[in-house]
Amino acid sequence: MLLDTPRLCLRRFRPADAPALAAYRSDEAVAHFQGWTPPVTRNAADSLVREFARGDPSRPGWFHYAVELKADGCLVGDVGVNLHRNRKQAEVGYSFAVDRQGHGYAREALTAVLRDLFGRGLHRVSADCDARNVRSARLLDRVGFRLEGRRPAYAWLASEWTDDLLFTLLADQWKDPAA
Ligand SMILES: CC(C)(COP(=O)(O)OP(=O)(O)OC[C@H]1O[C@@H](n2cnc3c(N)ncnc32)[C@H](O)[C@@H]1OP(=O)(O)O)[C@@H](O)C(=O)NCCC(=O)NCCS
Repeated sequence: MLLDTPRLCLRRFRPADAPALAAYRSDEAVAHFQGWTPPVTRNAADSLVREFARGDPSRPGWFHYAVELKADGCLVGDVGVNLHRNRKQAEVGYSFAVDRQGHGYAREALTAVLRDLFGRGLHRVSADCDARNVRSARLLDRVGFRLEGRRPAYAWLASEWTDDLLFTLLADQWKDPAA
C-alpha cells in the first residue's frame, strides 16, 4: 500500500485490475470529459495497467494510484499525479466508477494524495477540467482548490469546443482535514 485512508487503500496497479479498469473507463459517464474515447478494450486496459504499474510516484512524470475500497477489495477508481521535473509542482486527475461516486471516495483519495504531495514539500498542485464537468469542479472546490481561470473554447471534446477551468492549490492554502 502506498497511501492509506479510513476506507481506501491507494496502491500500485496490478494486472488483475485490468477488467475493472476497462469497465469503469468504458462507461460514457466516466469518459465523457476525458481524453479517451470509450470503450476501453481489455487489451488497452492490460497495457494501461502495465504502464501504470511501472510508474514511480517519487519521480517526475505521471503516476496513477489504484484506489481500492477496503470494505470489498474492489478497484473503485484511480488518481493520477503528474510530478513536474522540479518536484515542486504537480497536476492531478481522477476517475471513479459511476456506482462508486457519491460516497466521498474521490474526496478521500484526493485528500490523501494532496497530504502526501504537500508533505513531500510541493509548492503547488493544479488541476483542470471541462467547464461542464460540475462534479469534478465541486470535488476540487471541496478539497480546497481555488479557481484560477477559465480558458474559453480551449479543448475539442465530444465534437465541440469547450471551456476549460484551471484550479490551483498552494501549499500555504492547503488545510488538511485530519489536522
Ligand atoms: C469527478 C468525480 C471523481 C467526483 O466524484 P464524487 O463521488 O462526486 O466526489 P466525492 O468523493 O467528493 O463525493 C461527493 C459526494 O459524495 C457524497 N458523500 C456520501 N458519503 C460521503 C462521505 N462519507 N464523505 C463525503 N462525501 C460523501 C457527498 O454528499 C457528495 O454527494 P453529491 O455529489 O450528491 O453532493 C467523479 O464524478 C468522476 O469520476 N467523474 C468521471 C471522471 C472525470 O470526469 N474525472 C475528472 C476529469 S477533469
